[in-house]
Amino acid sequence: MIPTCPEENNLFAQLPAYVRAMVPYRPGKPIEELKEEYGFEKVIKLASNENPFGVSPKALAAMQAHLTDNARYPDPISRRLRRTMASSLGISPEELIVTAGGESLIATIVRSMMHPGDKAVTGFGAFMGFEIHLSAHGGELIKVPSPGYRFDVDALIQATTPDTRILYLPNPNNPTGSHITHQELETLLNGIPKTTLLFLDEAYIEFARHLPDYPDAMALRRENLLILRTFSKAYGLAGLRIGYGIGHPSLIEQLTKVKMTFEPSHLAQVAAEAAWQDSDFIDKALRNNTQEMKRYYEVLESLGLQYQPSAGNFIFVAFDSQEQVNTLNEALLKRGIAIRPLASFGFPNCIRITVGLPEENDALFQALREILPSL
Ligand SMILES: Cc1ncc(COP(=O)(O)O)c(C=O)c1O
Repeated sequence: MIPTCPEENNLFAQLPAYVRAMVPYRPGKPIEELKEEYGFEKVIKLASNENPFGVSPKALAAMQAHLTDNARYPDPISRRLRRTMASSLGISPEELIVTAGGESLIATIVRSMMHPGDKAVTGFGAFMGFEIHLSAHGGELIKVPSPGYRFDVDALIQATTPDTRILYLPNPNNPTGSHITHQELETLLNGIPKTTLLFLDEAYIEFARHLPDYPDAMALRRENLLILRTFSKAYGLAGLRIGYGIGHPSLIEQLTKVKMTFEPSHLAQVAAEAAWQDSDFIDKALRNNTQEMKRYYEVLESLGLQYQPSAGNFIFVAFDSQEQVNTLNEALLKRGIAIRPLASFGFPNCIRITVGLPEENDALFQALREILPSL
């Protein structure tokens, strides 16, 4: 055991109070850990909103072709990838920043824009990633109530004052699956001070953009709008850590100074470029999501469970108590199925289930039928 120093010399006692006050975030457990803990050969992981089809074959081939290139540092500003993406998005590469996952963009924006003590606003139930990085930086997060699990745009405008540095809005939101409409986004952008950045997190846009009222945020681009997107969800590259931001070139320039110099890795950059162009793979994932989401609605309804219609690749289900959630979670884990209890998101009596492959969803439905009567 390494000895600890007396209290007055204790390194850890000198950490900022806001860091010591942080509660550790516990993401969904990796499959290997679940296998080890429960002794399974196979685990059905419906806990972290990943792509159930794995990595796109084109991305896999691109990585294999670049395996030997990794002794050198990667391109720090992902030139090639940004050019490819900018041309298909109809924007300039200067409007794009590529980071080690959307999470790193969140960390970069917080480090670039916030002083300790500065304020940010979000809706209750918003994805936790922003709060974690804000807390680690000593920022204060104001959470506006979200009646019926939906963000309340008028209340968000009310709460956003000239000293609000960032308004963070995941759309669709994880874990509730709800989304704000184009009209609401426009109202929000017109209703907040120009000195507040609207940080619009579109990590799940690929699953949502077919909805007729889903916002076309690209058409509303302005100085105080930053859009987050990721290769972790529909593109199937969660393990590689690559995401991107779309924003005004002046903002992108500032963020590029602050991000980790050599993120993302070379393999992540080449895989993302290939995945970006693998429309067959994306179409397959989206088709599966649409079909299977419909089955989720039918089955959950037939089981009398309360769920929220979802614009993402996951579904939010509410129970009567946290005890029911814990019992269900344990019973599912014993059957080798991992879902996500949502106590740490502020919803102790709710769970989130990622839409999987048809056979994975069948296994979950069967398990629910067996377990629910005893809850
Ligand atoms: C809403 C939302 N934003 C951002 C992220 C970050 O994803 P990543 O860092 O893998 O790009 C997630 C991940 O679950 C998410 O749900």
